[in-house]
Amino acid sequence: MSYLIRPIVSSDEFFLWEMLYQAIYVPPGIEPPGRDILRRPEIERYLRGWGRTHDFGLVAVDATTSMRIGAAWWRLLTGGEKGYGYIDDETPELTVAVVPKRRQGVGTQLLGQLIDVAQHRCLSLSLSVSSANPGRAALPAAGIRNCRDLRNVACHEVGGACEVHSGRESRLSSRFSV
Ligand SMILES: CC(C)(COP(=O)(O)OP(=O)(O)OC[C@H]1O[C@@H](n2cnc3c(N)ncnc32)[C@H](O)[C@@H]1OP(=O)(O)O)[C@@H](O)C(=O)NCCC(=O)NCCS
Repeated sequence: MSYLIRPIVSSDEFFLWEMLYQAIYVPPGIEPPGRDILRRPEIERYLRGWGRTHDFGLVAVDATTSMRIGAAWWRLLTGGEKGYGYIDDETPELTVAVVPKRRQGVGTQLLGQLIDVAQHRCLSLSLSVSSANPGRAALPAAGIRNCRDLRNVACHEVGGACEVHSGRESRLSSRFSV
């Protein structure tokens, strides 16, 4: 089934919220959280008010049905809304998810194309992901190399120096997991 990848537009926002939900790592045997978890400040900051100056992302769309099947985006999270993968005020944080039935290469393509755009703009990106999340197997294929492991969280980065500020480990370890 073929698909195309295009930049996010404002009408994609509802789908992006669903992808943010899908990006929440639920360990095996744990009841998935309700979608109201998206209203938690530490989660919703990854999307609320989408369309800021530095926001950018891509959506994968099924070529036949026009259904959206995945998305990857970055957002700069600074000041009082630093994300779990905060590195510095110039490094946006990346989020990626694909609808479960379409996880066959789409994630690698989305990540690869998003990284190409970032490199074109001389941007580094950061991504924090639980080391227990099997989805992290998709990261090397997209050129994201492991940077550092912090307890149960791996911080990956693309194209720049990676440094996770000390003292943030405990918050990192709760990122996107329930
Ligand atoms: C992470 C994610 C976006 C990857 O998308 P995808 O379309 O499945 O990725 P790909 O099919 O391109 O996978 C690339 C490689 O990673 C492997 N992989 C991806 N997801 C995997 C999983 N859950 N378990 C084991 N391996 C996985 C694939 O087998 C593939 O390996 P290969 O190249 O040796 O065949 C997708 O699994 C997802 O939406 N996960 C939930 C959201 C999430 O966890 N986001 C943050 C992850 S960093």
